[in-house]
Amino acid sequence: AANGNKPAKTRNIVEKMEESNKNCVVFYGSQTGTAEDYASRLAKEGKSRFGLETMVADLEDYDFDNLDSLPEDKVAMFVLATYGEGEPTDNAVDFYEFITGEDVSFANASEPALGNLKYVAFGLGNNTYEHYNSMVRNVSAALQKLGGQLIGTAGEGDDGAGTMEEDFLAWKDPMWTALAEKMGLEEREAVYEPVFGITEREGLTKDSPEVYLGEPNKMHLEGTQKGPFNAHNPYIAPIAESKEIFTVKDRNCLHLEIDISGSNLSYQTGDHIAVWPTNAGKEVDRFLNVTGLLSKRDSVIGVKALDPTAKVPFPTPTTYDAVVRYHMEICAPVSRQFIATLAAFAPNEAAKAEMTKLGSDKDYFHEKISNKYYNIAQALEEIGGGQQWTEIPFSAFIEGVNKVQPRYYSISSSSLVQKNMISVTAVVESLDVPGRPDALKGVTTNYLLALKQKQGGEPNPDPHGLTYDIMGPRNKYDGCHVPVHVRHSNFKLPSDPSKPIIMVGPGTGVAPFRAFVQERAAQAKAGETVGKTLLFFGCRKASEDFLYSSEWEEYKQALGDKFELITAFSRDGPKKVYVQHRLKEHQKEVNELLLQKAYFYVCGDAANMAREVNTMLAKIMSEERGIPETKAEEIVKSMRSANQYQEDVWS
Ligand code: FAD
Ligand code: 2AM
Repeated sequence: AANGNKPAKTRNIVEKMEESNKNCVVFYGSQTGTAEDYASRLAKEGKSRFGLETMVADLEDYDFDNLDSLPEDKVAMFVLATYGEGEPTDNAVDFYEFITGEDVSFANASEPALGNLKYVAFGLGNNTYEHYNSMVRNVSAALQKLGGQLIGTAGEGDDGAGTMEEDFLAWKDPMWTALAEKMGLEEREAVYEPVFGITEREGLTKDSPEVYLGEPNKMHLEGTQKGPFNAHNPYIAPIAESKEIFTVKDRNCLHLEIDISGSNLSYQTGDHIAVWPTNAGKEVDRFLNVTGLLSKRDSVIGVKALDPTAKVPFPTPTTYDAVVRYHMEICAPVSRQFIATLAAFAPNEAAKAEMTKLGSDKDYFHEKISNKYYNIAQALEEIGGGQQWTEIPFSAFIEGVNKVQPRYYSISSSSLVQKNMISVTAVVESLDVPGRPDALKGVTTNYLLALKQKQGGEPNPDPHGLTYDIMGPRNKYDGCHVPVHVRHSNFKLPSDPSKPIIMVGPGTGVAPFRAFVQERAAQAKAGETVGKTLLFFGCRKASEDFLYSSEWEEYKQALGDKFELITAFSRDGPKKVYVQHRLKEHQKEVNELLLQKAYFYVCGDAANMAREVNTMLAKIMSEERGIPETKAEEIVKSMRSANQYQEDVWS
């Protein structure tokens, strides 16, 4: 065969488990990597505490019509994130449709179909959304309907309350007890077994052409930028323009123009662009230093999965530096479970005792670590008292630190107006934490800021001393490039431009609405009839962070009185004024437009703003239409299901 003797990759999970001697599969449905991380943590814990033969599986990699032949002595775990408006994550769509489908059918056609299936389930959700954890709820209900046996309870983690990690930890202990009883498992002294073997490759240097230095994937390493570009293969796009659209003390907002011509990438107004970041050099150095790898940063390593079901998550051979800089989410807050895992490798007894205490005492961990937002390296620096942690196997980091995740931005240009140029509007993230000298710097937005400063050729390209490697691996990104892909969304203008629209977008929430208004202005210029285009925008002060203030005038020229911008400046007057207050003031017009079937859009902060706007809209309809608020809330709900009410929100 062309590819040697390698057997074809099976999509049959039962076959896969039999051939690799596994008795526990942990499936994940993950969008941003957290569910995937939890899945691998469950798999590791099952192995080290109970000797389960575990494997982790991406739901996308398997078919499910033979789930009914999973033998009774095996168990399936499901770690499922809910995405957006109660949707499955991209990798779980097929599974979800299959398992909750009306006429789901299995290979064996036994009754009940999943009578043999033992499973556990944990969901990741956000209670600020209406369909809280609907993925795990619906999947668990479907499995039970088919005869599947839930062990323990179906856990639910809440990102909205900020308790995801603790919800997970609180769920998993009783689950393990129940599972151990059901399967007759004996708990043993947990032993760490590395999933990956690391070997230093003497013959190679970082200049050897086959060594991966952080190129997004193997294709890039081989020098080909070849499409299709997607979440597995980003396009290294030139940044045609980058400017700051406001800078007030310690707050900047960037406007970028990203050139996708010739890439075959395309977008539609309302879509998202994903940006693949690089970690700040300062944090990479900190990590390599505290783990004792600084002097070996450019050593070439081979990484091999010791377990046949595990996948090495980056191309090899590579270097420690490249893995840490481009692959690991080293700046994110460290988890309590990871601290507990690393206790065994502490450099001294005091550090070991401290790690063990932190790992087992939630409140203590909160006080000492989460409250200070320490990332992994900062936590190790603090706990180790300046000593290096040279005993931690590098495999533990590959397993325990999340993969760097691309960040999404709501495209702020119209594809009708600029087909090959994607605009991005991003606020540079920085968070002051009491008791910490440095503010926390958002990974992606500060990387974009550094790129901008290089592009502008300004005297101080690195105001925060973060030392980004803005030239990229092998200096390939010169001329200011950034890896991106496009994610299509359902946040869309009505296809008929004469329909009225109402948009609510404070802060960077205005991004997609700049695109919407830009598009309608172009349609009006081309002689099309354009409906009322009403935008509510909010920011702190008219003189500070009023995004695109002069552009709105231009759109007004094209759209005339069809376009109306209503502003809410929260810090200009004695009292806070928010977009929802302005909505209320304009309630008559808002209600009338809705009766004319106006589309209603909300973009920006998911935690508070979006919910308050929703509540306000119901209140407005109730008052204007003389109906009870509960009835008005029902109407808002039905507007949502009919796509007349659309949200593009993030927290
Ligand atoms: P991250 O590194 O991800 O950090 C996030 C926050 O955590 C920052 O405030 C940072 O200061 C803080 N932080 C850093 N380290 C720690 C730590 N150790 N512990 C705790 N906190 C820490 N943003 C826009 O500006 N414009 C948009 O149009 C836009 N559209 C979006 C659309 C969608 C669908 C989604 C999901 C998000 C969108 N976002 C948008 C948000 C964007 O994706 C990023 O989340 C945001 O830019 C921050 O990314 P970052 O990498 O700079 O920060
Ligand atoms: P503030 O920061 O002065 O409270 C963009 O961030 C704008 O949204 C700012 O004017 C901010 O006001 C405002 N904002 C903050 N919380 C909000 C909320 N719950 N609803 C609507 N707007 C809000």
